[in-house]
Amino acid sequence: MGYEQAWLNYHQVKDQSFRKYLTGVYSLEEDAIICSGIRELTLAMEHMYAVTLPCDKGAAESGIHLRKNSEADLGQEGYHIYPEGPVFVIEGCTSQGILYGIFQLLRRLQTEVVAEEINDNKLPDNPLRMLNHWDNMDGSIERGYAGHSFFFKDNEVLVNERTLDYARLAASVGINGVVINNVNVKNAATFLITPRYFADLRKIQEIFASYGIKLFLSLNFAAPLELGGLQSADPASDTVKDWWTDKLKEVFQELPGFGGFLVKADSEGRPGPFTYGRTHAEGANMLADIISPYGGIIIWRCFVYNCRQDWRDLETDRARAGYDHFQPLDGAFRDNVILQIKNGPMDFQVREPVSPLFGGMKATNQILEVQIAQEYTGQQKHVCYLLPMFREILNFRTHCEQDKDTVGDLISGRTYGQKHGGMAAVINTGADENWTGHDLAAANWYGFGRLSFDRNLTAEEIAAEWVLLTFGSDPKAMAVVHGILMNSWNVYESYTSPLGIGWMVNPGYHYGPNVDGYEYDRWGTYHRADHRGLGVDRSSKGTGYATQYHEPNASLYETIDTCPEELLLFFHYVEYAHCLSSGKTLIQHIYDTHFEGADVVEATVKGWKGLEGILEPIAYERVLARLENQELHAKEWRDVVCSYFYRKSGIADERNRQIF
Ligand code: GCU
Repeated sequence: MGYEQAWLNYHQVKDQSFRKYLTGVYSLEEDAIICSGIRELTLAMEHMYAVTLPCDKGAAESGIHLRKNSEADLGQEGYHIYPEGPVFVIEGCTSQGILYGIFQLLRRLQTEVVAEEINDNKLPDNPLRMLNHWDNMDGSIERGYAGHSFFFKDNEVLVNERTLDYARLAASVGINGVVINNVNVKNAATFLITPRYFADLRKIQEIFASYGIKLFLSLNFAAPLELGGLQSADPASDTVKDWWTDKLKEVFQELPGFGGFLVKADSEGRPGPFTYGRTHAEGANMLADIISPYGGIIIWRCFVYNCRQDWRDLETDRARAGYDHFQPLDGAFRDNVILQIKNGPMDFQVREPVSPLFGGMKATNQILEVQIAQEYTGQQKHVCYLLPMFREILNFRTHCEQDKDTVGDLISGRTYGQKHGGMAAVINTGADENWTGHDLAAANWYGFGRLSFDRNLTAEEIAAEWVLLTFGSDPKAMAVVHGILMNSWNVYESYTSPLGIGWMVNPGYHYGPNVDGYEYDRWGTYHRADHRGLGVDRSSKGTGYATQYHEPNASLYETIDTCPEELLLFFHYVEYAHCLSSGKTLIQHIYDTHFEGADVVEATVKGWKGLEGILEPIAYERVLARLENQELHAKEWRDVVCSYFYRKSGIADERNRQIF
């Protein structure tokens, strides 16, 4: 077996304390979501206890009871699961809450928790928990590293078994919204909101809806021109508004319950309101007003910058762009607009500071966007478990208020009471049998969902759960895989770009070392290294980016002495001879971390080999091949980066290692 069911790969459990409840599953409700939940329970119990669970409608004296209780304090999506004498209760105010309760129960049983000890009561921490697919309609995936799209092929929409399995996996970790097409809406994707595709989209939507997931689409802001044949897409034009009014009426007639749109405007060649001299608020609000009667939302991305800027020009530091564009518009967006903000000001690098837009805006709905497709973190060829990073981001104190000021507080509405908000991830799936190319990359998908539902879960807890659910309860497998995951982000960072400087990858495809690699056509480097040092001065004397933060963060980032070391080169130009807190010079730190990182990967391969015969052979071999490749690549990174800085600085490695 190759783990094609990922973490829903139900296996036999040792603890038998739940067996007494397997007399049947009873529910008074019979809607689509409840039916999905019962199907899941039945499937799981068959694999876990070899029992065919009888399903009955009404109540009985024993068994598993799905109880819809509108009086319970569980909101729209919360659950309470607990034993009550001979009955095991799964309670929610809604079917969706009950479904999440079922998945929680299955998780608990798979992780060998004794039935009597289960008493879990949870409302999700974030209203929106979304996955963003960057799938193109020809079947390719932008930044996709796990095969082709399973939503599109040859400009057609695909609906099959995988759609259902995808919905099960997503719902099992609490995902409630999915955007199926790439944010860069081009070619056939513009036509997704036309009759040619409605019937197939409706099928996807029905499958999603039966798992409590809303369907969303990315939208082409220039659709009035490209679809409607109008002369303009100006958001202030009445003709344009009329066109959208008709279009959205059609969309909601054809796709009842549709969620809304994700929009990338005025960025990297995408059209937007700037073309017509309008602001982003004007652009977003125009769509928001039209979609509002249907209960739809507009998710507007803040990834707006001038990609053709001259990197030598300090005035136009790309890191500043998001805040400069959007902060002045705080409060100008409608209630059903949500700004989607990438975690950092740049672009999903291995280490970035948290975007100052979090806390910079107080009267605007916000979604945190992270990327679990590992575009800059090894492209699912290297292991890089990102949950420790996501936890750090959520826990970052913005100091926009005295308390309840973390990113996690802001996006969930706890700080300013916004109704809409949450987390979105650029997803790492594809048509590969194991969903994510690298088997261990599935931990990021699983973990993202779990964390977006329950922000208090630690990266360690999530990793442990995922290992158990995926690989079973062998203690050696747990120790090795858990260890690999927990180390992997730091290890990846150590042999790639140091101390927050980012990039150093091949332009375009963003894989493999290329220290001077620069994306766009003008001359420049991201790191600004010369013979004395490297880094970008983003203090008030440099680009001024550091001043976009509230105090005390702004002052902390302002000077080399107070700047958190892992972000030193993001905020400062630092000389190679500068002494770090470890007592090492900057250049020696670069040499040492690169050698250590590559060594750890070598040791990881050896550790993995100890799992031969313990894990299923297909997955074992598949991961081994990837780890061996990672070892080669880590050494390549080490050699390229070390030799570059040796040549630049002329300073030898104190430990006299061979630098190629
Ligand atoms: C990155 C990525 C692009 C993507 C963009 C975005 O720049 O390389 O492929 O389109 O982010 O988030 O919109």
